[in-house]
Amino acid sequence: MMYDYKVVRQFTVMTVVWGIVGMAVGVLIAAQLVFPALNFDLPWLSYGRLRPLHTNAVIFAFGGCGLFATSYYVVQRTCQTRLFGGKLAAFTFWGWQLVILLAAISLPLGFTSGKEYAELEWPIDVLIAVVWVSYAIVFFGTIMKRKTPHIYVANWFFGAFILTVAVLHIVNSAQVPFSLFKSYSAYPGAIDAMVQWWYGHNAVGFFLTAGFLGIMYYFVPKQAGRPVYSYRLSIVHFWALISTYMWAGPHHLHYTALPDWTQSLGMLFSLILLAPSWGGMINGIMTLSGAWHKLRTDPVLRFMIVSLSFYGMSTFEGPMMAIKTVNALSHYTDWTVGHVHSGALGWVAMVTIGAVYVLIPKLFGAEKMHSIKLIEVHFWIATVGIVLYIASMWVAGVMQGLMWRAVNSDGTLTYSFVEGLKATYPYYAVRLLGGIFFLTGMFVMAYNVVMTIANGRKELIEQPSPVAA
Ligand code: HEM
Ligand code: HEM
Repeated sequence: MMYDYKVVRQFTVMTVVWGIVGMAVGVLIAAQLVFPALNFDLPWLSYGRLRPLHTNAVIFAFGGCGLFATSYYVVQRTCQTRLFGGKLAAFTFWGWQLVILLAAISLPLGFTSGKEYAELEWPIDVLIAVVWVSYAIVFFGTIMKRKTPHIYVANWFFGAFILTVAVLHIVNSAQVPFSLFKSYSAYPGAIDAMVQWWYGHNAVGFFLTAGFLGIMYYFVPKQAGRPVYSYRLSIVHFWALISTYMWAGPHHLHYTALPDWTQSLGMLFSLILLAPSWGGMINGIMTLSGAWHKLRTDPVLRFMIVSLSFYGMSTFEGPMMAIKTVNALSHYTDWTVGHVHSGALGWVAMVTIGAVYVLIPKLFGAEKMHSIKLIEVHFWIATVGIVLYIASMWVAGVMQGLMWRAVNSDGTLTYSFVEGLKATYPYYAVRLLGGIFFLTGMFVMAYNVVMTIANGRKELIEQPSPVAA
């Protein structure tokens, strides 16, 4: 029996490719905020169209390909069986690339449903639903035909992510088509907003968190050469995490037309969410107990542990921002953008990069990555890039919030909006620098990956072992 690695190889390589594309667009829009002339007066290069291109590319193309690759790899190894469904896995690869291509064309052309992280128009939404249901069939089919008695915890997280994203996408995308390129939400007013942020927050909870916890639960113990710190904790925080996330969405809609009690409920569940989030973070980091020295020599493990530290930080910050009075300061400011990237770059991108460095040699028949030194270089420029990005946005965000709310003794505003914007410029420049750092690291990784693949030998490609993976 041979594992089905072709589709894993394809998704892994595309993770690197889309990572570079999505982050390059991120750097471009970060540059536009410093130098507005960079939109060249062309509508399809305008900030409003490129911003959703950035978010879709990094979350669904980079993050999505990383999740497909790792889940297909992990489910085969831990179930000791090939992927279920024959050519269906290949269909998910080509279908997902088509979705990404259609997004890359339709968003700059200005087609959008106007719902954040769900901007794509209805024909693409239908395609996403078909690909995602196929993904679920391949994944759960593989679990069903497993040759191991139990289901390893990483698969619980991948499974929850796949199932929930299917439900979120299908419910939130309910639209009434008006033409081929335009549709209107099936939900009215405040209900539409509530459904949208039930979707939006659970996209964070299941796409950007549960799936990547699946990666963490397989790759951290593997790389550390230690068993998971506490299997019991992993089960407890799994159930706590998925049942709490569902209710936290209204924290995105504080002080809006949403009924007040739903906002308070969202705040309460966000505060509770700290506990299961930290359960995962602690379980990951403590897996290293007895193997801390490996951090000194293994830059791949460092990517993973630093990512868990950022996961811990952003899931502490999130509940704080969900408190209504704190949100009154942070909402609409760059503090939110700082929080987003502490999760997105610090947690999601770093753990994905770590997994890619583990997978590439195994999948392409190389003993190890071409250059460990370059992984080290990548680690440092990526880490410095993140710190520049999030620290500048935190400072900018708190400053903006304070400037906007400052009032003179006669009740007039102390600062005009433009004064706030002017004060933000230096921070936008620092964020741009941080982005350039992070993107440079991605190019270093791409070079290392190409060299490793070039030196790979077919006969060395990892084979299934008779012992549990
Ligand atoms: C316990 C966990 C977390 C809680 C309670 C939380 C809470 C929050 C809050 C209160 C906001 C600001 C809402 C607003 O004022 O508009 C926010 C925004 C956001 N968070 Fe988190 N967060 C958590 C973890 C994370 C993680 C780990 C990530 C990423 C991997 C993330 C990604 C985002 C994104 C993308 C937004 C921006 C949404 C938008 O477009 O407005 N969050 N979060
Ligand atoms: C080189 C790396 C990156 C750079 C330079 C960058 C830059 C940016 C910029 C300039 C914005 C717009 C902020 C605004 O409108 O004020 C943004 C938004 C966003 N980015 Fe990134 N980004 C990068 C990487 C990533 C990654 C890897 C992810 C996810 C995995 C991500 C997820 C997001 C999200 C969710 C938003 C929307 C935030 C919100 O609505 O609050 N970014 N990014």
